[in-house]
Amino acid sequence: MRNAAITGWGMYVPDQVLTNADLEQMVETSDEWIVSRTGIRERRLAAEADTTLAMSTRASRQAIEVAGIDPADIDLIVLATVTPDKFMPSTASLLQTELGAHRAAAFDLAAACSGFVYALAVGSQFIQTGVYRNVLVVGTDALTRFIDFTDRGTCILFGDGSGAVVLQATDADEGVLSNVLGSDGRGAQHLYIDGFASNGLFSDNGNGHIEDLQRTYMKMNGNEVFRFSVRVMGETAIEAVNKAGLRLGDIDWLIPHQANLRIIDAAAKRLDLPRDRVWVNLDRYGNTSAASVPICLAEAADSGKLQQGMNLVLVAFGAGLSWASSVVRWGATGVRGKGFHGDG
Ligand code: ACO
Repeated sequence: MRNAAITGWGMYVPDQVLTNADLEQMVETSDEWIVSRTGIRERRLAAEADTTLAMSTRASRQAIEVAGIDPADIDLIVLATVTPDKFMPSTASLLQTELGAHRAAAFDLAAACSGFVYALAVGSQFIQTGVYRNVLVVGTDALTRFIDFTDRGTCILFGDGSGAVVLQATDADEGVLSNVLGSDGRGAQHLYIDGFASNGLFSDNGNGHIEDLQRTYMKMNGNEVFRFSVRVMGETAIEAVNKAGLRLGDIDWLIPHQANLRIIDAAAKRLDLPRDRVWVNLDRYGNTSAASVPICLAEAADSGKLQQGMNLVLVAFGAGLSWASSVVRWGATGVRGKGFHGDG
C-alpha cells in the first residue's frame, strides 16, 4: 500500500483581533479568568469578506504553493467545515473553481472541531488505496458568526480561520501512519447549533419549514464537554500511536485541537510529552474549530521544528460528540519530484 505524505501546508486567519480586554467590555469576565481557565488571550474574527470559501482559498493556495503542484493535479478536495457558505453546492466545489483544480472531486465533511482530522483520514485513504495521488485537505470555520456575545460561557473561546494540507502518494515509510475516528451521538445535546448556514440567519420556525430569518447560536455545556475531552484526547491519541505500531517514546510532537490549555496539558501528560513538544497557539487564535489542527501544523512546519522522520500525533474532539486522531511521520522523501520541506 502507498502512503500519504504531507507535502504542502497553509493557513489563514482574519485580521480583526478580539482581545480578552475587549471581552471584558462585553460580558462579566476578566482577562485573568479567561487566561487561567483556558489559556486564551485573543482570537481572530471573520470580517464579512472572510467567508468560509475566502478563508479556505487563502490557506489552500499556500498549501499548493508549498507542495509545488499544479492545481490541475489535485484529484480530490475534502473541506471540513460546520460553517459552509451555502446549503449547496458544497464549499469544496466552490473552492475547486477558485483554485482552478478542475480535475478534482470535491465535497465537504462535517465533524465540527474533529473535522480536519476526519478529513485527513478520508483523504489519506484515497491515496493509500491507490485511487488518487494528490489530495487537498482543508479545515475552515467561522464559528464566531454563531456565537452569542452575551454568553460568557462560549464567547470567550472561539475564533475563525482556515488551514490546509496537500497529501501526496509516496512509497516511503512516511506520511499518515494511522487514523482513529469516533463519535458518541448521545452527547449531542452538550454542544450544538440549531439551524444551518454560515450567515447565521436561519432557524427552523418549529413546523419544519425554513421561513423565519432569525439568529441561531451555539449552545454548550462546558463542563460536560470538558470532562469528555480530557478523557478522549489522551485515549484516542494513545490508540493512534498503538495502531501505527509505535510506542509513546517514539512520539516527537503533539499537534492538538486548541480548545483549552488544561485539556491540552492533560493529553500531553497521557502521552508523556513535555510542553515544548506540544504545539500551542490558542493564546493567539482561541478555538478555530476545524481549522485549529491544520493551523498548528502549518505554523509548526514553517517554524522548522518538524524534522524528517519525526512522528506527530494529531488529535481533536468536538461536537457530536466526536473525536479523531492520527499519527503522521513527517517528510516527503518518497514523493516523486519532491524534496523534504521540513526546514520551512
Ligand atoms: N468569565 C468569568 N467567569 C466565568 C466565565 C467567564 N467567561 N464563564 C463561566 N464563569 C464562571 C461560572 O459561572 C462559574 O461561576 P460559579 O462558580 O459562581 O458558578 C465559574 O466561573 C466556574 O465555571 P465553570 O464552567 O465550572 O468553569 P470551567 O473551569 O469548567 O471552565 C470552560 C469553563 C472554559 C468553558 C471549560 O469548561 C471548557 O473549556 N470546556 C470545554 C469547552 C470546549 O472545548 N468546547 C469546544 C469543543 S470543540 C467544538 O466542536 C466546537
